[in-house]
Amino acid sequence: MTKAFIVGHPIKHSRSPLIHGHWLKTYGLEGSYERIDVEPVNFGEFLKAFPARGFAGGNVTIPHKEAAFAGVDRRTARAERVGAVNTLWVEDGTIWGDNTDVVGFMAHLDRSLGTGWEQDVDTALVLGAGGAARAVVAGLQDRPLKRILVANRTLAKAEDLVRDLGGTGPAALAPLAWEGIGSALPGAQLIVNTTSLGMAGQPPLAIDLDRAPAGAIVADIVYVPLETSLLAAASARGLRTVDGLGMLLHQAVPGFRRWFGVTPEVTPALRALVLADIEG
Ligand code: ATR
Repeated sequence: MTKAFIVGHPIKHSRSPLIHGHWLKTYGLEGSYERIDVEPVNFGEFLKAFPARGFAGGNVTIPHKEAAFAGVDRRTARAERVGAVNTLWVEDGTIWGDNTDVVGFMAHLDRSLGTGWEQDVDTALVLGAGGAARAVVAGLQDRPLKRILVANRTLAKAEDLVRDLGGTGPAALAPLAWEGIGSALPGAQLIVNTTSLGMAGQPPLAIDLDRAPAGAIVADIVYVPLETSLLAAASARGLRTVDGLGMLLHQAVPGFRRWFGVTPEVTPALRALVLADIEG
């Protein structure tokens, strides 16, 4: 029986066991996917020992993604660019690390908007400069955009992101002060929120979407609630919206394929299952 895990601290709120459990059942596979709570001080030891404990691999979540990046034997090019690892597996005794948030975000965009959506987008405006922003930017860099602007409350973090990820792909990458968002909006055909603003219990993301161009695409990676105030405002203005839940579902696909050998589908049934858990 193939065993996989999600490791984090705390870990009880993770929805990954629901997703992988659904796929194991759907495809009739003999396997398990379990939550493992590991404190930061013990993570290095856990990382080295999981293959000997019989695990094929697993997911890594807060606060271990950077420690996983530093501790694996080898990393994919994507993980290298993002600077964080969320998926582990073993190949010939070597522990590999990937960052599947990158393909998760892009697969969800393609699925929601239809391939070719980039044709309408010259400039993407990414709000936030944390780990999630790095994954979003790394994904967008694979597409034929002209510009990617990264706006962050702490400008120095946007500058760090641009320094670390710049020079990859066709788009020019530039940092933007948080106060510059209003004047950047009219030229941004894709707007992505990667900050925690708009999440349940957090203040809303207050940007004036009246300044966004007609036909703009507004994506949020926040998925609790599923319809954030940003997405509600975008819908009210007739803009195209992309919610945050799809990224969570799609980022799980590459790991499942590695560990269990089946490429799982992100179906409406899976979405409904996870949504019921979020709303419950
Ligand atoms: P993640 O890995 O999910 O990206 P993170 O690294 O903690 O999480 O990043 C959180 C992002 O939300 C950051 O861009 C943060 O801005 P700062 O770098 O200035 O902290 C942003 N953020 C959080 N609260 C915010 C607020 N009240 N206003 C503006 N941005 C905020």
